Amino acid sequence: MWGRSRRQKAELSAAAAPPAPVREDALPERAGGIGASGRTGTLPERADSGSPAQRDELSGRPVRPPGEVILEVDDLRVSFRTHGGQVQAVRGVSFSLRQGETLAVVGESGCGKSVTARSLMRLLPEHSSELGAGSSIRWKGRELTRLKEKELRKLRGAEIAMIFQDAMTALNPTLTIGEQLIEGIALHRKVPRSEARRLAVDMLELVGIPSPEARMKQYLGEFSGGMRQRIMIAIAASCSPSLLIADEPTTALDVTIQAQILDLFRMLQERTGAAIVLITHDLGVVAETADRVCVMYAGEIVESGTVTELFRRPQHPYTQGLLAALPRLDRERGRSLVPIPGTPPDLFAPPPGCAFAARCPHAMEVCRLHRPQMAELGGTHAVACWLQDPRAARPPASGAGAGTGTPGEPARTAIG
Ligand SMILES: Nc1ncnc2c1ncn2[C@@H]1O[C@H](COP(=O)(O)OP(=O)(O)OP(=O)(O)O)[C@@H](O)[C@H]1O
Ligand code: SF4
Ligand SMILES: [Mg+2]
Repeated sequence: MWGRSRRQKAELSAAAAPPAPVREDALPERAGGIGASGRTGTLPERADSGSPAQRDELSGRPVRPPGEVILEVDDLRVSFRTHGGQVQAVRGVSFSLRQGETLAVVGESGCGKSVTARSLMRLLPEHSSELGAGSSIRWKGRELTRLKEKELRKLRGAEIAMIFQDAMTALNPTLTIGEQLIEGIALHRKVPRSEARRLAVDMLELVGIPSPEARMKQYLGEFSGGMRQRIMIAIAASCSPSLLIADEPTTALDVTIQAQILDLFRMLQERTGAAIVLITHDLGVVAETADRVCVMYAGEIVESGTVTELFRRPQHPYTQGLLAALPRLDRERGRSLVPIPGTPPDLFAPPPGCAFAARCPHAMEVCRLHRPQMAELGGTHAVACWLQDPRAARPPASGAGAGTGTPGEPARTAIG
């Protein structure tokens, strides 16, 4: 589901700076690579896993009938009690996700991406976190915010699984990887341990771990960073969950290994039809992998839409600023990048109006006083900005700032 032709990639990231690795060409027949085993019994396959007949002309995404909505998040609010006061980490986030879809969540450090992701699995610290009264997370029609811990445990791993940036802290370094894989498979797939063991070996082979039989007896610390990510993905995917949440899964890896890991996601999604929520700082990764994008700022979603909508027609000054701050090969010589000046607001006391107002070159009086609501712009594109409201008078753009650069195209560049 993540593949794009060269032409489509070129269109989307034309002009984008350092050339991103071309996944399909770079990694065709890796020895011991992804899917090298050709085994099909390891994971149940999706019904429509054959090559899609059509691809969207602009974005290159395969055109498939839209899957059912499996996740609906409505007005999610999360705060933390700390010694310094109450941190309002997530402030009214709403989005939905369809089966087989990849949703990227991007935004600067501290904007609430990980807290949103952890909320979906109810993995927040019980004693210091608080869910807002109207917060709703509906998973296949069930309200997750009301589920008991026992029911949540059944769901985690089996239906929703999470992949973190650092396998060493996410997994148990004192157990062999075989033990960790077998335990999850036996528990969630309800098979005897001998069968779970066979499936575990297959799974390791599927994600490209050479000599999987022997590697089952090793500990996480004995693997390289890229191999550890593969193992974490194997564990997360081993029960064929309907949703994989990946929080910065490639941030700690070099670009070649990143490409291999993203390739692995693509293969798993192709096979199982899982939906993916991908949290990343890397807009290059977003351009190549996502169907839709949510841009977060100070605990809110400020813009959402398809990759094409966001990269071609960014409407929120923050999104425009992120894209303008990316290096591009075609920039006029001598023209420097335009970083977004300023810092995000203090989440202990967020401003009453638009959280971006202090950094926005288009800020108006209304922006500082009233929070802009999400407005639909057609298609799936939506933005929360007073500039979209015809009642708001538009002042001329002031001096240097986020919106003064031309919105760029994606590059393999970190934004946070
Ligand atoms: N357990 C916690 N206790 C108190 N505050 C927290 C806790 N976890 C997160 N926060 C705060 O919530 C806000 C959002 O954090 P979050 O980890 O979601 O950011 P992020 O967007 O994932 O950032 P990054 O890109 O750096 O990972 C931050 O202000 C953070 O300090
Ligand atoms: S609402 Fe106002 S301050 Fe906020 S991004 Fe839009 S124009 Fe800028
Ligand atoms: Mg994070």
